[in-house]
Amino acid sequence: MESELSRIGVSLPDILLDKFDVIINSRGYSSRSEGIRDAIRGYIRYYDWMSDIEGDRAGNITLAYNHNQRGVEDLLANIQHEYTDIIQSTVHLHLDHDHCMEVIILKGEGKRMKAIFENLVRNKGLQHVKLNTIVPAEI
Ligand code: NI
Repeated sequence: MESELSRIGVSLPDILLDKFDVIINSRGYSSRSEGIRDAIRGYIRYYDWMSDIEGDRAGNITLAYNHNQRGVEDLLANIQHEYTDIIQSTVHLHLDHDHCMEVIILKGEGKRMKAIFENLVRNKGLQHVKLNTIVPAEI
């Protein structure tokens, strides 16, 4: 139940808070607190969904990064070479002079997909790391 309320203090960069305020205003939240509660619920739902990923899956991981950032391309290559059992293909898109997007196409054990995702999402040099999977047997 969510009836008991706790008060917490959170420090955020101004730019992050400004972007958040724009979103909660456009979505009609009555207060910043309500927007933050909803964001936390979404975060929890996402991790609950993530914990259910296992067994045979097909999926992809999409991410973006600035390729001038030292070490980021090496890291990406090293991680991908650890998971050759489930990586079917990788599509690389040069977005502009500095930025790249990569889509890693996966088929195999869902737990292995989560392991790659957790490995990538921990790295501060990579942005917009998203995992999406489907269950082939349920199509
Ligand atoms: Ni590129």
